[in-house]
Amino acid sequence: MSSIVIAIDGPAASGKGTISKAISEKLQFHYLDTGKLYRAIGAKYLEGHEPISAATNLKYEDLDNYDLQKPEIAKAASEIAAIQEVRASLLKFQRNFSRKMPGAVLDGRDIGTIVCPSAKIKIFLTASLEARAYRRYLELQKTNNELKLESIIDQIKERDERDQTRSSSPMVAASDAKIFDTSELSINEAIDVVYFYIQARIN
Ligand code: CDP
Repeated sequence: MSSIVIAIDGPAASGKGTISKAISEKLQFHYLDTGKLYRAIGAKYLEGHEPISAATNLKYEDLDNYDLQKPEIAKAASEIAAIQEVRASLLKFQRNFSRKMPGAVLDGRDIGTIVCPSAKIKIFLTASLEARAYRRYLELQKTNNELKLESIIDQIKERDERDQTRSSSPMVAASDAKIFDTSELSINEAIDVVYFYIQARIN
């Protein structure tokens, strides 16, 4: 028997994290936020580490050692994520994780295309730039109320462009992914829509 893999990809603040976590809890599957791997390497890069060796030596504990939500870490993550060797060294860990029984939900940018191309269910979440930036603004305001919405719009736009145009594993919906636009949905509505879709296909 092999594990059931659910790949959830999409751009910054499309709701991937919240939706993937909720789905994994409902199904009692394991959950990996692959963005955290890139963010932890981004954090090390900002400390002066060389990104390829930071990726090779990454330890699971590193994911808890930084405030990975910070916008400057998100920016650094998207810079180091364009390096082919960084991506290659994270592949094995992600693929091993996807084999956990009875199943695993992985969210990121290239799960359905590169990491788990044979995932049973592939979802690509999207939403307008304005809707995504406003959600991230509300999230980040909890810890930093000096951030401006305009600057978050600019940061997300820059990161989306870099993620979409890099030559190594660019962010793109897999041809067999189901695309959901969550711009007009509350987070609970989005969870319900995605869960309904998955439930119909999982057995
Ligand atoms: O939470 P948010 O969607 O803003 O970002 P994230 O998922 O934590 O990812 C941070 C950055 O890591 C992204 O902008 C990508 O450049 C990179 N990333 C990637 O290249 N591939 C993945 N599977 C996950 C993240």
